[in-house]
Amino acid sequence: MDVNKQTITKCVIPAAGLGTRLRPATKIQPKEMLPVGRKPTIQYVVEEAIAAGLKSILIITGRTKRAIADHFDLDFVTGKPIEGELDYEKLGVRFFFVRQAQQMGLADAVSHAEAFVGGEPFVVCLGDTIIGEPEPATLLKRLVDTHVRRGASATVAAERVRPQDVSKYGILKPLSRVGDEFQLADLIEKPAPEHAPSRLAIASRYAFNATIFDAIRAVKANPPGKGGEYQLTDAMRELLSNGDGMWAVRLAANEKRYDIGNYESYYKAFVELSLQDPEFGDSVRRHLKALLAGNRGR
Ligand code: G1P
Repeated sequence: MDVNKQTITKCVIPAAGLGTRLRPATKIQPKEMLPVGRKPTIQYVVEEAIAAGLKSILIITGRTKRAIADHFDLDFVTGKPIEGELDYEKLGVRFFFVRQAQQMGLADAVSHAEAFVGGEPFVVCLGDTIIGEPEPATLLKRLVDTHVRRGASATVAAERVRPQDVSKYGILKPLSRVGDEFQLADLIEKPAPEHAPSRLAIASRYAFNATIFDAIRAVKANPPGKGGEYQLTDAMRELLSNGDGMWAVRLAANEKRYDIGNYESYYKAFVELSLQDPEFGDSVRRHLKALLAGNRGR
C-alpha cells in the first residue's frame, strides 16, 4: 500500500522532557501540566490534534509525569467530562501512554511510538508548545495535507526566528524557493549562528512516515548528537541522505508558536492567552494597561 495515500489518524505527543529550565515549578510536576490561562499546556495540544481529526493519541511520559495521564481521565467523582473539557469518549478519542525510561533525547522518545504507529504515517506534536491560530488546527491540517500530497517521508512546521535564536532550534536549509510550503535540502540541530543555513526553525509539529523509526535506529547506532542526546533532527537528516523527499510548511502571519519551555516564553504565553479569556480577558487587559502606565491597577 502507498503509505502517503493513507489518511493520518495517529498523533504522538512527546512529554518526557525534564523541564529543568522551569524549576522549581517543575520539580515534581510535568511542565506540560503548567496552566496557560485555564488549561494545562498539553490540553491545548490534545485539542489541536483532535481538531485536525487525529483521534488516537499517544503521550510519551516519564519520571514525574503521572499527572498527565490523570488529567485526561473523566472527573473522578461524576465520571463525566468537566466544564472546559471536550467529551473525549463521545468524540471517539483514545489515549495511550508509554514511558521513556531514560532521558536520551527527542529521537529516543519518538522511537517509543513504533508499536502504536503500526507502520502508518503519523503526526508528532511537542507537548510543551501551543499553536495560537484563529481557527483550531489549521497549521496541523496544512502540514498533513502537504505531507500526503507531496509524498514526503517527513514534513515539519517552520517559523522564521531571530538571528540570535537560531542556536535554540532545528534550522532548515530550503531546497526550493521558500513559499507557504517548500522542500528541504538539509537541516541542522541548534547550529551556531554562523553555521545556520537560514532563520527558518522547526516549529514543534511534524508528520512522519514509519520509516523514521529505521532512521532513529541508525542515529542511535552512533554517538549521541547535540546536547548529548539522540536528536530527531539527526534522524530526519538520515532520511534525507536516503534521498527521501522532505517538506516544510510555514506558519502563516496570524499563527503563532507559544513555547512554554522557559520562564520568559511561559510568562509571555500566559499573559497573551489570558487576554483571550472570554470572561476575564478585558479586565486583565485594562489591568495591564494601568500597570504599564505606572498606576497600581486593581
Ligand atoms: C526541539 C527540537 C528542535 C525544534 C524545537 C522546537 O528542541 O529538537 O529541532 O526546533 O524542539 O520545535 P527543544 O526545544 O526540545 O530543545
